[in-house]
Amino acid sequence: MNDKPSENVMRSVDPLTDGMVSRRGFIGAAVASAAVAGLHADSRASWTVDGIPLPDWAADRIRSGVARYNAWCGKDETVAFPLITDVHSHEPGFAENPPNWNDPKSHILFQRAIAHATDSDFLVNLGDLDFDINILGVKPEWNDVQAVIDGFVRVYEKEPLPVLFSMGNHDHAKGRYTSKQFGDTFNRGITARAGHKVVLSECGTWGYYDIPAKRFRAVFLNTSDEGYAGYSRKQLQFLSDALATVPEEWHVIALQHIQVPGIMGRWRRGLDDGPLRREGIFMQIVDDFAHHRGNLVQGFHNPPIKGQYDGIKWDFADSKASFVGGFFGHTHLEANMQIDGVNWVTRPGYGTVPADCPCMGARDPKCVWEFKRSKDMMIDLVAVKPEKRVVHVFRFGYGGPESELEYKY
Ligand SMILES: [Fe+2]
Repeated sequence: MNDKPSENVMRSVDPLTDGMVSRRGFIGAAVASAAVAGLHADSRASWTVDGIPLPDWAADRIRSGVARYNAWCGKDETVAFPLITDVHSHEPGFAENPPNWNDPKSHILFQRAIAHATDSDFLVNLGDLDFDINILGVKPEWNDVQAVIDGFVRVYEKEPLPVLFSMGNHDHAKGRYTSKQFGDTFNRGITARAGHKVVLSECGTWGYYDIPAKRFRAVFLNTSDEGYAGYSRKQLQFLSDALATVPEEWHVIALQHIQVPGIMGRWRRGLDDGPLRREGIFMQIVDDFAHHRGNLVQGFHNPPIKGQYDGIKWDFADSKASFVGGFFGHTHLEANMQIDGVNWVTRPGYGTVPADCPCMGARDPKCVWEFKRSKDMMIDLVAVKPEKRVVHVFRFGYGGPESELEYKY
């Protein structure tokens, strides 16, 4: 894997971003060396990732986003991760010299640059890498699917920080790519193989990553492990157990592809997706965790019984942890809801949609993103201040500050 992390992500010194390097402190030796190795006092920001120079427009957006992020952070301890989702790349492999900026996978280079510019703790990809169709929009041959998968591996495999992958509904290659294969290739093949202590299920598509120094657990799930859209009982039991074992006073975030509640996205609910199987049980488990309940609420199951449903059992009566929120992709939308004090957020993470994409805007004109993927990005940085119980979602690129979100939990 990556035996020379310091050469993977580099930048030159810049008056707007340079203070960040020493202020937040380094997450680890790999990040420290990555940030320091690229410093050259005589130039403005010029970024390379895996030796690939980023275009000037990308460096500009990263620089302005980092400046706003630094101003927000102040001296507070922050957990941060750049989130990308719904990359939907159908290009085989990954062109490096020169990069094909029209291949959505190229935006992962921007995500990685942002991770290091902000001293992020980890990176998140919320799925729909998309192995279901080829560049012609039809079912691909298996060799073509493998070439797209190889391209994703290539663009992530030298990343020194942990990358958490949630499987999307378009990642089964129409029944030819199992959850186990996805988990072995991405969470196990990239993140665990790089030495990061990520706790994984047997199939490797759900698990959690802890940051003990910041009392933070990131749980990631697979919303397509039972059918096109659904959780298995096994996964929800894993979730319940993962939440029940969170140490006292820790903060937990949940990451997955398909949004809950389903009404938050317009993505043809009830047509091609169908309902997310066991969505209600998932939301009940999280709601009980957020409120430290051992019992289901009155009304959901009457009379109330010890937390259990459909063979899944949970009990958070003794928990003293906090739930930061659930973050989702799938919708290609910016939307959020708070239900019973629990925050649910869906983001487009979709730095890849050309203005003439025919699939966008058919039902909601606001959903047309008016930019070209080769000239702009749309990447979110999720930042959490556990002490202040506040979340800010920063937008790097299209939409800018007007597309950002802040909430308390
Ligand atoms: Fe999706």
